[in-house]
Amino acid sequence: MPPVMKASALLAHAVEKLEASDAIDHWQKNRELYEAEDLLMHAMGGQEVELDEDVPPRVRRRFEAMVARRAAGEPVPFIKGYAEFRGIQVLARPGVFVPRDSSEFLAEQAVRRLRARRSPVHVDLATGGGPIALAVANEVPKAIVYGADLSPEAVALARTNAKRAGVRATFVVADLFTGLPKRKLAGKVDVVTLHPPYVPRDEVRDLPDEIRAWEPTHTLTDQSEDGMGLVRRAAHEGPEWLARNGWLLVEVSPDRSREVMRILRAAGFREVRSTKGGDLKVTRVVVGRRPA
Ligand SMILES: C[S@@+](CC[C@H](N)C(=O)[O-])C[C@H]1O[C@@H](n2cnc3c(N)ncnc32)[C@H](O)[C@@H]1O
Repeated sequence: MPPVMKASALLAHAVEKLEASDAIDHWQKNRELYEAEDLLMHAMGGQEVELDEDVPPRVRRRFEAMVARRAAGEPVPFIKGYAEFRGIQVLARPGVFVPRDSSEFLAEQAVRRLRARRSPVHVDLATGGGPIALAVANEVPKAIVYGADLSPEAVALARTNAKRAGVRATFVVADLFTGLPKRKLAGKVDVVTLHPPYVPRDEVRDLPDEIRAWEPTHTLTDQSEDGMGLVRRAAHEGPEWLARNGWLLVEVSPDRSREVMRILRAAGFREVRSTKGGDLKVTRVVVGRRPA
């Protein structure tokens, strides 16, 4: 049986181990500490942990096993089995993209626009396990919400997530817009959200291990040379589905936002701009209104 240790000492060991890991992307200050605290709380059964608290050996063993998995690159949501997304528990399973905190800002941008409409309609393309669609359905209950993804595993998980969260959203297997009910939605969608696979084909191999080894390739790249294949298609196909004055909102990494703006403008979208937000305060969501 390992000896009893204070939470502070256990956390310090865990942070050291995570900082030394080559499998983790150390891009955010104190990321290792936040993750260690999150895992310790999870090992304690969800209870807040005081730093001077003695951690029982049974909990310590559980925690150290989780830290070892994380140090090997496994994303925290796979270890815990879920991610928190705007107050909703979204199940996370290998084979389906892990929801990122940064996407909470995309959901927020959609919610803001949909709340202002009388009978709002939202479509979340490339929905994965459904975090953005679920957040919208939760925060704008009057909205009709659809989520679509090419992956049947993702759609099955999104449906389970909707049931668990007790929200009303319809999830379909679809190649972008193809497969959505045209009679019901064409020309009526107020907001389309899209967090696409946008990594250029040849750059996937350069991604950190924790992404490349754990996320399926089709969630990272659309296999186009510049990674903008799905964005171009959404810009081209979107106007047929969007209502007059409807919005297309696209989440990408800061270095891709200029290219997305160029594509939207070239397709005739109006009021195109790049917005910053969330805790990270970096450019993440490009917005544009349907061409007139
Ligand atoms: C970066 S993930 C985003 C998932 C989810 N929106 C999120 O933020 O957690 C990209 C998603 O696009 C889906 N995808 C890839 N190609 C697609 C296509 N042609 N049509 C629809 N979805 C596609 C993948 O299955 C994956 O779930």
